[in-house]
Amino acid sequence: MSPRPRALFSFIPLAMLACSSPPEETTSARPTRTPTTSVDAFDVPIAGITSEFLADFNDGDLLFSTPLRDSDGLGPLYTRTSCGSCHDKANRGPGLVQKMALVEDDGVTPASDQSELAYGHTVHPLTAGGGMTPILPPDDPKVKVTTRFGPPVLGRGYLEAVSDDEILRVEAEQAARDDEIHGRINWVSYASEHNEDTRFHDYDRGDTLIGRFGLKARVPALDDFTADAFQGDMGITSPLRPTEFKNPDGLTDDQKPGIDVGFDSVNLRANYVRLIAIPRRTSDSTGAALFESTQCSVCHVPSLHTRADYPVSALADIDAPVYTDLLLHRMSDELADGLPADPGVDGQADSFSWRTAPLIGLRFDRTFLHDGRAKSVTEAIELHRGAHSEANASVDAFDALTADDQASLVNFVEGL
Ligand code: HEC
Ligand code: HEC
Repeated sequence: MSPRPRALFSFIPLAMLACSSPPEETTSARPTRTPTTSVDAFDVPIAGITSEFLADFNDGDLLFSTPLRDSDGLGPLYTRTSCGSCHDKANRGPGLVQKMALVEDDGVTPASDQSELAYGHTVHPLTAGGGMTPILPPDDPKVKVTTRFGPPVLGRGYLEAVSDDEILRVEAEQAARDDEIHGRINWVSYASEHNEDTRFHDYDRGDTLIGRFGLKARVPALDDFTADAFQGDMGITSPLRPTEFKNPDGLTDDQKPGIDVGFDSVNLRANYVRLIAIPRRTSDSTGAALFESTQCSVCHVPSLHTRADYPVSALADIDAPVYTDLLLHRMSDELADGLPADPGVDGQADSFSWRTAPLIGLRFDRTFLHDGRAKSVTEAIELHRGAHSEANASVDAFDALTADDQASLVNFVEGL
């Protein structure tokens, strides 16, 4: 089946929004607009997937945006009630997560004693299902509070499909460079219980793997991330993460006794994320050449080869056009969040390190970087510059371009 029916279907809610006033007021004055056929489609499934995967995509898409309630097991702590509230239409935000860390006087170096944060580094602002006490930043000037927007989840199946060998190869190539750019793999643990669906992998809890997902690449696989988001962001337990998040009320359950959702709930949402297409617009060769000459492409690697045995055949044994190396880079002090490198936080990633953001579907975004502080692609590039950033020379090269060349580079990036 072609993705077309879904693209049309996703147009319907927009049309309904456009005429949401009461029917009696909209009879004659309604402007006659015919739907444009040149909708720039995104949040659509990868072309050529099996009907079984297409069904998973559609079911998972629906679940992704469905809010869960107390009776579904929401709480004792939560931040938002659906995946989609932080990844609206698979894109950035509007929901977000706040992080907190105790820092030294410089404001960016983690303090050696983080024990004041008894419930960890994530703010859990809301309660449900019997919870009474949220986890909020303590009123202490040494506590640095930072924001992480839910990043876009477009094309994430491509990232999962990339072979370990490719990531190891790129890390080794960067280590041998004679400039500042030396990305590092975030080696992390698979933190979920074994998944009964072993099509994508057969990992056990505690297996050491290459981190790929999250703004600091702290999670190795999409089912692990989904189960983590359920538990951490929504207070929903699953067979992959069967225990409630540690909370100040000491609750071990909520209004729905026992484990809140089954394997399918996790796997369908994970499969939806795995199967979203990369919404690429054809881009010009001048922009591509400038992307290379200014060394954006050293970190934002245009393509990485995927495993031959990835179960989505459209993603297996291909050059995946992901525009990331999946490695951590030392970015500027200004971007640092003060969080310590710790297996329970972001794995080996420290306060200053961020995963190279995949450049996918940026024309659908209005804010950029992990906390949305950049309001345009140009601003995002400029904010790569700062104290100790590996990307400083690349920003210098961008600044040295003519205004026309800068515009074609930005246009190229926006089309990715
Ligand atoms: C309260 C907001 C919030 C909710 C709810 C939420 N997420 Fe996220 N999501 C985030 C943030 C913030 C990150 C980045 C996390 C990090 O770096 O630690 C993220 C990251 C991700 C990633 C990794 C993307 C990448 O580029 O590596 C995936 C996949 C994901 N979320 C899926 C989900 C799913 C599935 C759900 C529902 C079960 C969900 N999220 C619910 C905020 C949210
Ligand atoms: C040293 C590695 C490195 C180089 C070189 C580099 N980037 Fe990045 N880029 C990153 C990292 C890491 C992030 C994520 C930073 C964050 O979220 O705070 C990022 C984020 C971005 C974003 C924001 C994406 C989003 O989803 O918010 C854009 C746009 C971007 N880079 C474009 C470029 C361009 C264009 C160049 C070349 C002029 C470039 N980058 C050079 C590592 C690099």
